[in-house]
Amino acid sequence: MSIGQNIPHDSSRGHVTGGSVFIDDRALTQKEVFVLPIGVPAAAGTLKKVDTEAAIKAPGILAAFTAKDLHHNMWGTIVPEQPILVDQKIGYYDEPAVILVGTSMDALLRAKPFVKFEIEKAPAILTIDEAIEKQQFIYKANAFVCGNVDDALKKSPHRLQGFFECGGQEHFYMESQACIAYPLEDGQVEIHSSSQHPSETQHVVAEALGLQLHEVVCIVKRMGGGFGGKESQAAPFAAMAALVAQKMQRPARLCLSKDDDMVMTGKRHPFKNFYEIGFDNEGHILGLKAQLYADGGAYADLSSSILDRAMFHIDGAYYLPNAHIEGFVVRTNMHSNTAFRGFGGPQGTMTIESLIEDIAKHLNIDALTVRERNCYGQEKNNVTHYGQKLDHNPLPELFTRLKNDSDYFKRREEIEKFNSLNNGKVRGLSMTATKFGIAFTARFLNQGNSLVNVHKDGTVQVSTGATEMGQGVNTKIQQIVAHAFGIPAPDVKVMATSTEKNHNTSPTAASSGSDINGSAALKASLEIKKRLAWLFQNIIAGTPMNDIAECPPVDEKLLRLEDFDFNHGQVKHLPSGQTLPWADLVKKAYLNRMSLGEYAHFKTEGLGFDKARSMGTPFSYFTNGVALSEVQLDTWTGEYKVLRTDILMDLGRPLNPGIDRGQVTGAFVQGMGWVTSEKLFYNKDGRLLSHSPTTYKIPNIQDTPRVFNIEFIENHENRQNVHRSKAVGEPPFLLGISVWTALKDALKYKTSKIPNIKSPATPEELLMELARYE
Ligand code: MTE
Ligand code: HPA
Ligand code: MOS
Repeated sequence: MSIGQNIPHDSSRGHVTGGSVFIDDRALTQKEVFVLPIGVPAAAGTLKKVDTEAAIKAPGILAAFTAKDLHHNMWGTIVPEQPILVDQKIGYYDEPAVILVGTSMDALLRAKPFVKFEIEKAPAILTIDEAIEKQQFIYKANAFVCGNVDDALKKSPHRLQGFFECGGQEHFYMESQACIAYPLEDGQVEIHSSSQHPSETQHVVAEALGLQLHEVVCIVKRMGGGFGGKESQAAPFAAMAALVAQKMQRPARLCLSKDDDMVMTGKRHPFKNFYEIGFDNEGHILGLKAQLYADGGAYADLSSSILDRAMFHIDGAYYLPNAHIEGFVVRTNMHSNTAFRGFGGPQGTMTIESLIEDIAKHLNIDALTVRERNCYGQEKNNVTHYGQKLDHNPLPELFTRLKNDSDYFKRREEIEKFNSLNNGKVRGLSMTATKFGIAFTARFLNQGNSLVNVHKDGTVQVSTGATEMGQGVNTKIQQIVAHAFGIPAPDVKVMATSTEKNHNTSPTAASSGSDINGSAALKASLEIKKRLAWLFQNIIAGTPMNDIAECPPVDEKLLRLEDFDFNHGQVKHLPSGQTLPWADLVKKAYLNRMSLGEYAHFKTEGLGFDKARSMGTPFSYFTNGVALSEVQLDTWTGEYKVLRTDILMDLGRPLNPGIDRGQVTGAFVQGMGWVTSEKLFYNKDGRLLSHSPTTYKIPNIQDTPRVFNIEFIENHENRQNVHRSKAVGEPPFLLGISVWTALKDALKYKTSKIPNIKSPATPEELLMELARYE
């Protein structure tokens, strides 16, 4: 029933009425205190001394804590090398060093200027170039090698060489990093956090406080957006709140202001990617040699995994017969960059999409023709540069269909006519693709567990490790469980995520939240279903009620689950036609002392990647899509509009097409913001200047495409995932790139050379490029 239906998001009513509870909406409890982290006013050097004496004397201030108050001051998901509070060595400007505790936020903000830092400054490294020059590396990846690239480049009739640069991106979730820590008995702590990764938060808190994991519980009801920014970086703030709770034995609330959040937390990784690409007269790519440099910022965080994903996505949707891809994460004195929707994928794919535009200009061929010539095939040219074979590759169909449905070549002619008017405006058109690998590239993370509890009235509570951040994972899990039991979706509630119910969970990330946790919930539900079917079979056979024997491990000979239809709140034994209302069967099971709760563990099958050789199957499947964007650029001001965007995606059999449409819309607009207006500005000391919506420009409603069409193709073949659905959260982010390539296309009409712009293509960036043509 409810699979594939547009049932509303489980928080939709709450979000519009204000009923949804976020961390800072939680009622104040007795003796609760407020916590304010304060950052250092330098990007590099040594923190000699922190003077909090005057601040502590201010009205409403209760205490101040520094690094030495922590039992353990290091954290890091992959490499534990990042201090929770600066001890001596400073990593970046505004890095938290002191936490001030007070009776109100007002009191804290008044006292903040009294905290004094004594710092011995050192020169800061603020760019990728400087870091390369000073050989500051956090991680060097094993190269990805396929074919013989040197040979291919040598034989190529055409070669282009250069570099591609893209900037970072602020997550701009509506709810900043937020956490409340409650001290419990025996030194235990309960954390309510806005975190994509409750288990990691539990872990970092426990370590910081000198507790064992079973002494800490982390609960996540929901986030007001995460977008990757709360995968790792929610944890240190939780540790700060927990430290206060432990030291003062009072509940402690730490909710960052937007400005503090923006300066203290990491962002999307800027990349600088050097390339040499060889191609023939028709634009077929013969070889790609690339070195990717990601700005990791001050600490490792998830950077190595993010770089890996960029290297996996350097092919975009295009077959590379010969490739040699190297990757490096450099260390700078920037905030520690972190996961952000796409997780390096966008930075990889954008490089080749930009190169395709360049090849097209170089050869004077339409860029879409170049894309179609290089697109991964179905029977041939269907193996990636890391050796994964594409299964049921829909990319050729997506390109062809969108080209036809959107009148690509007719519109190209119209654009050429419009551009020849030379009226101070120039239009551009570009189609790009996403082929996003689904699975955590760290294999061990591809597991999850679930707890399904059926209550006596037949209603159900489900708990998994998935965290709800707006993406609709709760609603999808609700649908999966309701469908399994054949009951209405409102009879299933997905409960707050808690490490007490689901242990050792993976972050809700890599777009695989509903894949993994939905599959685990389905597995647990099927076990309960088997027990109920067994009971029903006994009832039909006339077995006396009361203590019907335990359900044996289900054996085809004893029980055929297919004989029972769970639907419309009824359970029907198909061979006999007998039915029982679901709730009655549940009650009978209870009276017969049968378990109505189940726990299940799920792991994604079929993954295997050999890191040493950079070859194998890192992904379970791919989510694909294409987007065509048309832009109009004012050549006097550099301002532009997105006139129209058409998106065509393959989401398998969507669990909830409405929610998926929301994901595609939001991801596209967020991706478009990254490549157009979201420029981060720093001063020469490495201080972030664009730390609020007044100086950091995310897209608003007028910036979205004037005409915006989103469609899905039919695909019933994705047998790798629950109910043949496909993950949707990140893949459409990459389609925002089409706006940037369309702007680059528009510039082509103004120059005989290959346009050379960075991302984001702000009006300033475009105007400066146009100025070079005159
Ligand atoms: N959608 C909303 N509304 N808010 C978010 O924070 N995060 C994105 C995506 N969609 C996000 C979102 C990111 S980065 C990921 S990895 C996925 O959702 C995670 O959820 P899923 O795995 O359940 O799709
Ligand atoms: N994607 C997103 N988040 C992650 C990944 C990944 O591949 N690996 C670890 N965290
Ligand atoms: Mo998403 S960047 O994998 O949290």
